Amino acid sequence: MLSSLKPSPADPILQIMAEFQADPRPNKIDLGVGVYKDGEGLTVIPKAVKMAEARILESQDTKSYLGLLGDVGFAGLMADLVLGDTAPSDRVGAIQTAGGSGALYILMNLAREANPDATIWASTPTWGNHHAMAEGLGVKTRSYAYFDPKTRAVDVGRMMDDLKAAGPNDIVLFHGCCHNPTGANLTLADWERLTEMALAQGFLPMVDIAYQGFGDGLDEDAAGLRHMAARVPEMLIATSCSKNFALYRDRTGCAIVVSGSAEAQVAAKANLMTLMRITYSMPPDHGAAIVRTILTDPDLRKVWEDELTAMRTRMLSLRQSLADAMRARTNSDRFDFIADHRGMFSLIGATPEQVARLRDEFAIYIVGDSRLNIAGLREERMDEIAEAFAAVGI
Ligand code: LMR
Repeated sequence: MLSSLKPSPADPILQIMAEFQADPRPNKIDLGVGVYKDGEGLTVIPKAVKMAEARILESQDTKSYLGLLGDVGFAGLMADLVLGDTAPSDRVGAIQTAGGSGALYILMNLAREANPDATIWASTPTWGNHHAMAEGLGVKTRSYAYFDPKTRAVDVGRMMDDLKAAGPNDIVLFHGCCHNPTGANLTLADWERLTEMALAQGFLPMVDIAYQGFGDGLDEDAAGLRHMAARVPEMLIATSCSKNFALYRDRTGCAIVVSGSAEAQVAAKANLMTLMRITYSMPPDHGAAIVRTILTDPDLRKVWEDELTAMRTRMLSLRQSLADAMRARTNSDRFDFIADHRGMFSLIGATPEQVARLRDEFAIYIVGDSRLNIAGLREERMDEIAEAFAAVGI
């Protein structure tokens, strides 16, 4: 039976990661997969995480099952981190998941359960796994205009025009902050208009917020989402601790459902539990225990928030350095957008051939759609990188 299987295509981001790892050139530089790196090019474990792990090692006395919801304390804290006090707590249900991807998957499953005819709309472009996941679940997808390659900013007019066609059978997926892959983000005014559209047209907003704290700050990055959550009757939110807590491989995320009433919230949570049971049953605990330990201890929380601030500040300064280096190299302001974008990524506007030349001739790895991981840049190699970009004609 299994001989009928044909090899399926690799995920483009994970393929770049594997190619980079296999490249023996010592000067190689990884601007591909969305992993934060410090000034030494290392993805270190934050001090707050190490301290929490030490406490867990001391105090944890069982590895017995927790249940389908995972660590409920963690889930409540994540709902607070994302939503603040914007949505009434009896309408909010949160469940721990295996990473942000686990949250997206379980929420798409829930949406399909609630409405088998539902269509998920995603921005053009979006993180490749959004479409792949929905389609894998047999959920229809559509795209709405988002990025203007000329201005390198959000094309608000075209986005709103496209979304006029979204109605009660539709789920519209937004990036809460730090848009992946473009780096171009919605303003609070855009979120306000989209909220009005959701209310008038009846579509269900779904928000993927995998980079909270990487843009302008923990609260700032959630401001648009919170505005929406305070006004719409229902909302789905997928959040992740991969980046802001650097827990990548510990697979720590949370699915949050804002329901129309307290009763509907109870039903949504029960459905989430059933869906969890038939997928991977219970989520892994370690990362959630770390996050709960950090968020419930004021001292640890302060250590973590300071470390998060340092990561964000470094990315902002790298953005400015690259924009400056490109300005000097090209004698134009064409690349100033890099400093205006927020989060880990920018779409640099290279063709697939230019991306291949960067890899082959300069050992610089970026994703094929020309997405650049800002956190992979090195201050001391900025001129070299800008020169390579100019040399391939970007
Ligand atoms: C990325 O976009 O690079 C990250 O979210 C890693 C992944 O799983 O794709």
